Amino acid sequence: MKPVLTDASQRAIRYLEGLAERPVAPSPSAVAALSAFDEPLPESASDPADTIRLLDEVGSPATMAMAGPRFFGFVIGGSLPVSLAANWLAGAWDQNSALYRATPGTACLEGVALRWLLDVLRLPAGCGGAFVTGATVANFCALAAARHAVLGRAGWNVEADGLFGAPPVTVVVGAETHPSVSKALGLLGLGRSRVVTVETDSQGRMRPGRMPRLSGPTIICLQAGNVNTGAFDPVAAVIPRAREAGAWVHVDGAFGLWAAAAPSRAHLAEGLGGADSWATDAHKWLNVPYDSGLAFVRDPHALRAAMAITADYLPTETENRNPGDFTPELSRRARGVEVWAALRSLGRAGLAEMIERNCAQARRFADRLAGAGFEILNEVVLNQVLVSFGSPETTKRVIDATQADGTCWAGITSWQSRTAMRISVSCWATTDNDVERSADAIIRAANALPAGPAAIGPGQG
Ligand SMILES: Cc1ncc(COP(=O)(O)O)c(C=O)c1O
Repeated sequence: MKPVLTDASQRAIRYLEGLAERPVAPSPSAVAALSAFDEPLPESASDPADTIRLLDEVGSPATMAMAGPRFFGFVIGGSLPVSLAANWLAGAWDQNSALYRATPGTACLEGVALRWLLDVLRLPAGCGGAFVTGATVANFCALAAARHAVLGRAGWNVEADGLFGAPPVTVVVGAETHPSVSKALGLLGLGRSRVVTVETDSQGRMRPGRMPRLSGPTIICLQAGNVNTGAFDPVAAVIPRAREAGAWVHVDGAFGLWAAAAPSRAHLAEGLGGADSWATDAHKWLNVPYDSGLAFVRDPHALRAAMAITADYLPTETENRNPGDFTPELSRRARGVEVWAALRSLGRAGLAEMIERNCAQARRFADRLAGAGFEILNEVVLNQVLVSFGSPETTKRVIDATQADGTCWAGITSWQSRTAMRISVSCWATTDNDVERSADAIIRAANALPAGPAAIGPGQG
C-alpha cells in the first residue's frame, strides 16, 4: 500500500502548492479533458498507481481552486493544513464512528471538540451536539429536536406517532431565511411554505415589530449571517418574546455564528446564546475539509430523542457520548476529528485572528471597489460584500470577465432586485495581498468593458 499512498499524498501536496498561482477556475480545455474518465467499467484489475495518476492528471486541473486563497464564491473556506492532515489520518483509521464502545478514540475526540466549540461560540456548556455533513443537515437535526420538544410539551410524541393528527406547530421565519431551513422544515413534515414569514429590512434582518403574536407549539427560525449581506436577525428583541410564549428559537448561523469567536465581531452574536438550538458549518469558517456541519441543542435530550436508535446487535449502552445518538446517520465518518485538530492547532487566539482577518479583508475589498467608483450594496459588517457595477447587464459582464481572467472568482446574486457581484471572504489562506490582487483584477475587468449603453456608471442597476 505504501507506494500508492505516498504517491497520492505527494500529488495532493503538489496540487495545494500550485493553488496560489493557477487560474482559480478550471480552463475549458481541462473540463473538456474530463471525457477521459468516461471509459467502460474495466473488466479486470489494474495497477492502483495508474488510477491515482489518471485522477490527478485529469481530475486536478478540472477542479475549481476552492481551497486556494482567491476563491470568493458562495461561502466556502479552505482546509487548514492541520485539518486536512487530520482528515487523512482519520481516513486511514476508517472508523465507523457511531458508538463509543466500538470507536472510543474518535468518540472521545468528538466529545472534546464539542466542548471546545460551545466555549468558542459562547453557547451554553451542556448543549447536545451533532457532527453532520453541513448546515442543511444541522438545521434539520436542530429543528427535529425543536419539533420533538414543542410537540412533547403539547402531549404529543412525534417520533412515535408522526404528524398525522398532531397539534399544529406554528413556524416563524424571516423573509430572508436560507433555503436550507425551508428544506429542513419540508423534510420534517412542517412544510417549506406552511410558515409565517416576517418582513425583513434593507439588510435582510427580520423586523421584530412585524413578528406575529405567539401561542401554542411554535418554532422561530432566526438567522445569524445572511448569505448575501452577512447581517444578523435582531436576536435580543425576539428571544424574550419567544421565551414568554414558550416558543423554541432556532438560529441558522452557517457562517455567522463564528462571529462570536472574534472579539471585534462578537457584538453581532450578542444574545445568540439565549436560543434553544443552533446550526453552523465547520467546512466554512473553521476551514476544515468537506463535509462538516454542526448542530447544537440546549437540551441534549431533545436532540437525542429525535435521533437515537437501538438494536440488539448494537452496543449502544455506555456512560460515554455515542456520536450516532445525535445524528441522522448511524454509520458515519468521524468528522469531529478535523474540527478537534483545527481548534487545537489554532487555539482561541488563532481562530479569532482568522475570522477578524477575513472580516477586515471584506472591508478592504469594499473600500477598494467603492474607491474605484462602484457601488457597495450592503453594510459590510462581516465577511460579505455585494457590489454593483451599474446595470444588471454590466454587472454580469464584469463578473464573467473576472471569472475568465482567473486571478480570483466571485459569483453573482440578486439582492433586493439589484444584480450584484457577491464576494465572500472565509479562507484561512487569503492574505491582504490576495485581496489587493483580486481587487485590481476586478477593477481591471470593469474598466476594460467597452463603453456603450450596457456599460453605464455605478448606481444605475
Ligand atoms: C445561512 C446559511 N444557512 C445554511 C447554509 C447551508 O449550508 P450547507 O451548504 O453547508 O448545507 C448556508 C450555505 O451557504 C448558509 O449560508
